[in-house]
Amino acid sequence: MKAEAVKLAPSILSADFARLGDQVREAERAGADRIHVDVMDGHFVPNLSMGPPIINSLRRVTRLPLEAHLMISNPDAFVEEFAQAGTDLFLVHWEGNNDLSRTVHRIKALGRRVGVAINPATSATVLEVIMPEIDQALVMTVNPGFGHQPFLHSMLSKVTQAREMIDRIKPGCSLEVDGGVDATTAPLAIAAGADVLVVGSAIFNDSESVTAAVRRLRAAIQP
Ligand code: DX5
Ligand code: ZN
Repeated sequence: MKAEAVKLAPSILSADFARLGDQVREAERAGADRIHVDVMDGHFVPNLSMGPPIINSLRRVTRLPLEAHLMISNPDAFVEEFAQAGTDLFLVHWEGNNDLSRTVHRIKALGRRVGVAINPATSATVLEVIMPEIDQALVMTVNPGFGHQPFLHSMLSKVTQAREMIDRIKPGCSLEVDGGVDATTAPLAIAAGADVLVVGSAIFNDSESVTAAVRRLRAAIQP
């Protein structure tokens, strides 16, 4: 994977919400490729976070694509509202969705791109049937719900499996990793086959600045 082909998706879960616009603008200026918005409902994951109004506000401060990672029990009930707010790409989970194909088609009917996410305990093989329909696969490298958790190295072989599946079935599909990605783990994820990195705390909790953090990550993923 060429470094310039790898996309950085800062996750605002770790941002300072009092300065959200400024922090997102800073990430954009520093070279972020898209903004990752973690949506949690307190049911699907044991945490609460953000909803469509955040997407709506972000849409006015950045030109970057906005991706909504829906960690919610009933995504179908909300996709229209998220699309109207300005979501470009949806990430919906395989887990707990008996009707994933319907969800995927509903999102595509709204003219938005769609990715499917799998949790650490879920096998990559579940992606195979849905793969022709999707634009992105997301391998969670932590159990979803919180920022700043350690990267699960045991997920690297699953990233490789997903990469092989994509190359075989849908070469244009992106492969994203989310959770515990920093300057140390990013090169491992890329070597395993990822081409989109979600990075939360390693960007927004950086002791120096968002700009310095993005630059450090870019430097770490240079070949
Ligand atoms: C976890 C979220 C992640 C989280 C990543 O449930 O899906 O996007 O913000 O945060 P870090 O990069 O700190 O692990
Ligand atoms: Zn996420």
